[in-house]
Amino acid sequence: MLKAGLTKLSEEKLYRSQNNFYENAYKTGHTPWSVDGKPSGNLQKSLKEIAQKLPNRIALDLGCGEGRHSSYLSENGFKVIGIDMQETALKNAGRRKGKGVLYILGDIFRIPVKENSFGLVIDYGVFHHIRRKDTKVFLNFLFSLLVPGGYIILTCFSRKFRHANGKTYKNGYACHHGHYDRFSSRKELIAIFSRYFSITGISENSDGFYNMVLQKKIE
Ligand SMILES: C[S@@+](CC[C@H](N)C(=O)[O-])C[C@H]1O[C@@H](n2cnc3c(N)ncnc32)[C@H](O)[C@@H]1O
Repeated sequence: MLKAGLTKLSEEKLYRSQNNFYENAYKTGHTPWSVDGKPSGNLQKSLKEIAQKLPNRIALDLGCGEGRHSSYLSENGFKVIGIDMQETALKNAGRRKGKGVLYILGDIFRIPVKENSFGLVIDYGVFHHIRRKDTKVFLNFLFSLLVPGGYIILTCFSRKFRHANGKTYKNGYACHHGHYDRFSSRKELIAIFSRYFSITGISENSDGFYNMVLQKKIE
């Protein structure tokens, strides 16, 4: 496991508290985003659809947690970087199958790689914990890491998502229990991502998630 530093952004009060929330989740085993530890079915489906179109087979698993997607990608022939801030999660990730994975303990806002490196980025559950005002910084950075023509497979909360307390949040976000959640509408997602990417797939499921496939525009 490689170690990289934090950005000033991640040292802000909200993100520090959010990172404590994750730390506690991994230490107690309460990780509702990965109950069975298997890769998301939607991710597998999207990957099959774009597999032949990817400009390279180098993938970044953003906020990789315990590595379920990094490991899956590696078993499917990708070289993978999985980055996360949680050491406990990465230790568990390191025990999974997948020889071609380099795990980095670090901040998704500062990944120590060159621009235009990745043909594929996976964001399962990161974007929807990024504060709205930080969207631009996040997307500019992501954009710079992708090869032109490269893809992002992204899963995020929709307005229908029911939190553990059973509530939905119609106004689009909540800051609660030490973390930030963002609940997006289709219109918002299209407005945000179409500035940077071609949206080649967007669908909402009954559990309250949007699954998106985005391609970096080739200038
Ligand atoms: C909802 S979990 C999803 C984990 C994983 N993608 C999965 O599907 O199993 C979000 C992950 O993003 C990580 N994360 C959030 N903000 C981060 C940051 N600034 N830098 C690195 N990792 C971060 C958290 O530690 C957590 O593991």
